[in-house]
Amino acid sequence: MKTFNIKRILLGSLSLAIAVGLLVMSGIMPIPVFAQGMMGMRGMMGGMHGSDIQLVQQEGEYKALSIPPILEPDTADGNARHYTLTTQQGQTQFRQGTATQTLGYNGSFLGPTIVLKKGEDIQVRLQNRMQEETTVHWHGLIVPSEADGGPHQVIKPGADREVSFTVKQEAATLWYHPHPMGRTGIQVYEGLAGLLLVEDDSELGRDLPAQYGVDDVPLVVQDRSFTAGMQFDYYGTYNPDGMLGDTLLVNGTIHAAFDVTTQLLRLRLLNGSNARVYDFRLSDGSPFLQIASDGGLLNEPVALQSLRLTPGERAEILLSFKGMQPGGHLDLMSGDTNVLRLNVAGELAQNGSIPATLNNLAAAIDSGGVDRRFVLSGMGMMVSINGDIYDMNRIDEYGFTQTDEVWEVYNRPDMMGGMVHSFHLHGTQFRVLTRDGAAPPLNERGWKDTVAMDAGERVRLLVRFSEPGLFMYHCHILEHEDNGMMGQIEVKAK
Ligand code: C2O
Ligand code: CU
Ligand code: CU
Repeated sequence: MKTFNIKRILLGSLSLAIAVGLLVMSGIMPIPVFAQGMMGMRGMMGGMHGSDIQLVQQEGEYKALSIPPILEPDTADGNARHYTLTTQQGQTQFRQGTATQTLGYNGSFLGPTIVLKKGEDIQVRLQNRMQEETTVHWHGLIVPSEADGGPHQVIKPGADREVSFTVKQEAATLWYHPHPMGRTGIQVYEGLAGLLLVEDDSELGRDLPAQYGVDDVPLVVQDRSFTAGMQFDYYGTYNPDGMLGDTLLVNGTIHAAFDVTTQLLRLRLLNGSNARVYDFRLSDGSPFLQIASDGGLLNEPVALQSLRLTPGERAEILLSFKGMQPGGHLDLMSGDTNVLRLNVAGELAQNGSIPATLNNLAAAIDSGGVDRRFVLSGMGMMVSINGDIYDMNRIDEYGFTQTDEVWEVYNRPDMMGGMVHSFHLHGTQFRVLTRDGAAPPLNERGWKDTVAMDAGERVRLLVRFSEPGLFMYHCHILEHEDNGMMGQIEVKAK
């Protein structure tokens, strides 16, 4: 089974610990690395207890799913839109009783949904009203690197930063989150994330449900651990292989339910978790349709019985409730845990239809060559890409815009196995050419910016940049990213 394999992680950590010990004893490993190795091991030992944190099924009353508000522009003039996004501290009432100290954009937890249209000229004033540095990264958006919000675009506490870009891509479910050096994991964990939806005028997707919060519903799926005092327990449960929590939150709601009032329901799923991998399915085992991947609509709907999303990945799915018993319910699950209860109203309004064709993407052509190779390896604190730990001041790769490249990414297992990584690239959308030499599954044949990489797996990606600048590629398990499983490519305009 291709899931997070706990035993492998445990064994992997052990083998790494032994290996570090041997290297130190034999004097091969220099002291600074040794120190880091020991820290890593302590982290890993913590992780060995933390790594099997399972989701707990909530009991009792359901709570109405919270729907993030849509961000209104400050000004709209023709094609130009100006927005303000403020990063702030706050308190959030997740359960009755004590409120939790949280972070949010324009609010106390998560952020508003930003809806942009292809062709618009966007300006965003980013205000940092927290006590620490941050950046705002538009995950999946095709923008020049000055606007991308990577670790170089720091906004100091109290400071503002103005970014502008033109929306050049097709309709898609993207998202935004912080990306400061070494602090991405905790800032996302404490609440910094929001959705960014791109719309366009394509005729093909016209019939899809599109009433936000009614039949077109975003689901930011995250897991968290709380202390007895209802505070986020980031350090108490710290795991260098990625934070796993026992409590599932959807749009910040624990034990969420949604009232279905239409025959068709479009769900925009974001795995906004630091590390957890979800296998979404319906409680009655019935199939659903995936209509979009990270960067836009698939050419045709793909029928699935389960859908895996690793951290950072998105998918839009379509559920049909036509003919379902009124007053009944269906659960969106991940494994054995309820993600969202769907309560079906007495009478379901007819809405849209399921288009047979959703997009007209050309088949991705494999040149057969390899332009760049990336090897993901290690665990815990000792993760790397091509043997290197991220250094802001080192440019790892150089490339040009408007050039098709094949990237071969390999998740190198260690002696005892290894683990899944989630490979993400900034500044563009790519196509998956092959997975271990075979054509990718049907639902990975559209635009992607993040791909799941099982231990031992090799994927070939067709990458083309249209925007110049310095772009990150990294594992989207946020603690791996923070621990340096990241590199950067400088793309020059051709
Ligand atoms: Cu969603 Cu570099 O990140
Ligand atoms: Cu990104
Ligand atoms: Cu990773």
